[in-house]
Amino acid sequence: MQDKEIYAGLPQLLVPWYRANKRDLPWRQSRDPYRVWLSEIMLQQTRVEAVRDRYLLFLETLPTVKALAEASEEVLLKLWEGLGYYSRARNLHKAAKAVAESGGEFPRTAAELQKLPGVGEYTAGAIASICYGEQVAAVDGNVLRVVSRVLGSEKPIDDPSVKKAITESLGEVVPSEGSGDFTQSFMDLGSAVCTPRSPRCELCPLAEICRAKARGMQEKLPKKNPKKERKNEEKTLFLLECDGAFAICRRTEKGVLSGLWQLPCMDGMLGAGDALAAAADFGVRPTAILRELHREHIFTHIRWDMVCYHLQCAVQSDCFVWALPEELEARYALPTAFRKFLEI
Ligand code: ADE
Repeated sequence: MQDKEIYAGLPQLLVPWYRANKRDLPWRQSRDPYRVWLSEIMLQQTRVEAVRDRYLLFLETLPTVKALAEASEEVLLKLWEGLGYYSRARNLHKAAKAVAESGGEFPRTAAELQKLPGVGEYTAGAIASICYGEQVAAVDGNVLRVVSRVLGSEKPIDDPSVKKAITESLGEVVPSEGSGDFTQSFMDLGSAVCTPRSPRCELCPLAEICRAKARGMQEKLPKKNPKKERKNEEKTLFLLECDGAFAICRRTEKGVLSGLWQLPCMDGMLGAGDALAAAADFGVRPTAILRELHREHIFTHIRWDMVCYHLQCAVQSDCFVWALPEELEARYALPTAFRKFLEI
């Protein structure tokens, strides 16, 4: 069988399988582009299970694109807390404002959707196929894995040329009826059957045409280029406690977690003596080290190796905002890297 024939056979195998097996997910209840768009942005780099409840809470708080456009950044970042990749939330805000300004109607084609901040080729294809039935492919990591295996291709899926070729070939076979189901079939197949490790080929609707399976290569494909190593950075954090409140401050506008709230933080791994001296320089008059905690946090390209000193302090210095635990809970968006030291 030629590659072309394999591609051509995908819709008739995948769409019925999807209709019979699809997961019941909250964003599949509606074709409202606001809801579908929000789900696709949340699901970038984040697992379905981590998104599910957060998605519902987000929609309860901001049920329409107009509500999102009018929301404050504080509220938005709080709703995004813990999901990571916070530029997604900022782009979401910008895009909502753009949509609201042009009358509140979402663009109706993938090409137009792609002009919105944070909406790339994949997301535009997903929204256009799911909401409007456009015959356009939405190629993400799941699609690349499934297609590489079915084709038995050894080409590295992180080569842009490979993604381009798969997008073009798949684009030619998207069905006129059920293009959104075709798009979502790859997501469900990729998450439940054609998984990165230990794929469950016995359940796969593509098993009969899959070259990787025929060759026993399903665990060896897809191929990827070697990853660049993460940079290691050492950080000293301060959990400064005074009269039941904790010191927080804003991160600078540059680099990871820019503009979000943080615990006071210095570069390098300070020993206890130096940490106490540094805290004294903040003007908080530390009186005791309550705990010393070590944690790591992994970002895409950086790993933080962190020590945190929990210090009892006598003065609520003006350098910081002093937040009570309930305020930290309800109001301030404090990323997971810092929250790790509060939840003990
Ligand atoms: N991952 C990305 N988009 C998705 C969707 N619509 N359903 C399930 N998983 C997804």
